Amino acid sequence: MSVHHTQSVILTGDRITGPLHLGHYTGSLQQRVRLQHSAVQYILMADMQGLTDNGAQPEKVNRYFYDVAADYLAAGIDPAHSVICLQSALPALAELTLLYLNLVTVSRLERNPTVKQEIIQKQFSRTLPAGFLIYPVSQAADITAFKADLVPVGEDQLPMIEQTNEIVSKINHVTGQELLVHCRAEVGKTGRLPGIDGNGKMSKSLGNAINLSVSADDLTRAVNAMFTDPQHLRVSDPGRIEGNVVFAYLDAFHPDTALVAEMKARYQAGGLGDRECKSVLNECLQALLAPIREERARLMADKSYLLSVIRRGTEKAREVTQQTLDQVKRGMGLLIF
Ligand code: TRP
Repeated sequence: MSVHHTQSVILTGDRITGPLHLGHYTGSLQQRVRLQHSAVQYILMADMQGLTDNGAQPEKVNRYFYDVAADYLAAGIDPAHSVICLQSALPALAELTLLYLNLVTVSRLERNPTVKQEIIQKQFSRTLPAGFLIYPVSQAADITAFKADLVPVGEDQLPMIEQTNEIVSKINHVTGQELLVHCRAEVGKTGRLPGIDGNGKMSKSLGNAINLSVSADDLTRAVNAMFTDPQHLRVSDPGRIEGNVVFAYLDAFHPDTALVAEMKARYQAGGLGDRECKSVLNECLQALLAPIREERARLMADKSYLLSVIRRGTEKAREVTQQTLDQVKRGMGLLIF
């Protein structure tokens, strides 16, 4: 029997409207790098989804195409083990989206907690683009087109997985076949990484992110600007760990958990200053990001190589997604021409 049947199929994607940051790294990238050796992995550069809140400024969507491609490879995604592809070059995804939309109610779309929060955050109100409201359905098309059963994502994407599985059940029910595959999320051990200001998650649109491509100086500046405990005025004062961004990052990134535990105890008791904590964190992040920065610079100097990697991946993905589309169309009684 072929090994292939026991392997998971993984699909994840990223909007490419900005370079990838540490939130992507802990939320998903790290897991993708680990899982690529034991699974069939597809990574989608989600330019179409990027358009859903940038319709009036489409030039924003592709500005970071090469940056994101370089971020992937520099972070350890290996094109020999992962298929990286471009969403807009896969027409089957758009067609599946349109088919699925007939099985999803408007009220279900309005209930998606992540979308709900984003609508408020982006102050859409009555200017909400229809494409934005339905992007979870397009994401369901992304996942199901590849028959992915595993989606390593950040916590904020859990509602998308839930909605995807509802669509899988509906399609399988109306076609009377087990056509589509249910999927499960795998959330990184650190969950949601806060932004450096401590206000919600790290996000490029909130301006509180640390990009993988950050310079050494800017990284130091970002660490020094991190929100800690505003009541912790003197080194000798007891400090709070909860809500303290520096400790959230030490938990997420520092390999020496015993050291971090000891620092926490000292901080809470009083006697450990923010400056020292930030310097420990800075050293650890500099060590993590220096090799990524170097490899990234090398890749950015060879854009035709990056382009060839994505083109090859997209060709492979086109076959797989077209096959699923044909199965769904056939299952729904549509003619295949
Ligand atoms: N919504 C994801 C983000 O904002 C991007 C994405 C698009 C995605 N399609 C996907 C994630 C499919 C997981 C699976 O970054």
